[in-house]
Amino acid sequence: MLPIEYFLAEDTIDHEDEKALAEWILSGPRLTKGKLTTEFEEKWSRWVGKNYSVFCNSGSSANLLMYYTLLLSGQLKNKKVIVPSVGWVTTIAPAMQFGFEPIMCEADPDTFGLDLNHLEHLLKEHNPSTVIMVQVLGVPNKMAEIFALREKYNFILLEDACAAMGSSWRGQKVGSFGNMSSFSFYFGHQISTIEGGMVSTNDPRFRDLLLMLRGHGWSKDLSPEAHQSLVRKYKVDDFHSPFVFYYPGFNVRSTDLNAFLGLRQLDKMDWLIKRRFENHQLYRARLGDHFVYQQYEPSSVICSIHFGMLAKSNEERYKIVSALRENGVETRMFSAGNLGRHPFWYEFGGYPVFGGLVADSIHYRGLFLPNNPSLEKEDIEFICEIVFNNKEKRHD
Ligand SMILES: Cc1ncc(COP(=O)(O)O)c(C=O)c1O
Repeated sequence: MLPIEYFLAEDTIDHEDEKALAEWILSGPRLTKGKLTTEFEEKWSRWVGKNYSVFCNSGSSANLLMYYTLLLSGQLKNKKVIVPSVGWVTTIAPAMQFGFEPIMCEADPDTFGLDLNHLEHLLKEHNPSTVIMVQVLGVPNKMAEIFALREKYNFILLEDACAAMGSSWRGQKVGSFGNMSSFSFYFGHQISTIEGGMVSTNDPRFRDLLLMLRGHGWSKDLSPEAHQSLVRKYKVDDFHSPFVFYYPGFNVRSTDLNAFLGLRQLDKMDWLIKRRFENHQLYRARLGDHFVYQQYEPSSVICSIHFGMLAKSNEERYKIVSALRENGVETRMFSAGNLGRHPFWYEFGGYPVFGGLVADSIHYRGLFLPNNPSLEKEDIEFICEIVFNNKEKRHD
């Protein structure tokens, strides 16, 4: 087996970023959350096309904040939430932690997001307040249909775009579709702040709750008007006012150090999107029609951090996986496969194992290939050749 030469994740923080960061630190700035955090939030909002953004310490914390904000917003008609079967544990975990009633939805055979038929069936049966979707590997869900269902069944849409930054659908950025949307700046994602996350929204009530819940439940991070209105409502005097806790909050803040990196990373975004989309298209063209891939509208831009594919069978997948590993190409299962087959769901949560056919095909036949901005055409051709040479001949 060759040592890994083609990694699934590479750092987008380069030497220039590190040098700039070192110089900035040596200039003695405020390191904890300060004005760079606000600058990054504003720049992110402009980039994604939302009014407000709240920077926190991970994509998982962003999801945690979205759920708890919803719960405290007083806008929920019930605590039912439709959750995807393909995504990440922390797309669902906060629902369990906060006593929501999560209902799992089958994956769409084209996008691997929410299956529209199953979604509508669940909406009719359960009338949930909330639907959370994941934009799986940057491929947009069938947004026009989901918007139509939102209109018809009146739910709040949360959008987990943690690994989908830079993709767009009909000219609109993925991550601008939810009533609240979350993003992750973890190592190897489209851009990185080492660890980091963001929630974006157009709703000022959500924004204020997000800001309070991010920092202990106090009002210090609110606008002076919003802070004053709470001070007046609860008749708080000046001396006490910075340390009055209005909600049972968390501390999931990030720091200005991370925001410094985020601001620089955002400047590279156009280049990163272009490179990842070119790679994505090349994989698709070279691998041909033997395998299954996510489908998207021709006008979409797909900024994926890995290239996902389904083999014809579990056996074929493992044959490809071994060949990739022997040749120094890192690979892994497709995301987390079917979340309804993980112990957190059926054992801890006590929900039935989810046996959706599409979610299972992703679980048992899916794998990831590297898609880093640094990959050259020859690298992708080399990887595709390994995959291609190890497909099952009898299926052709
Ligand atoms: C869809 C999705 N949601 C949430 C997360 C969690 O993000 P983080 O690792 O920043 O906590 C991830 C991580 O990759 C993810 O892919």
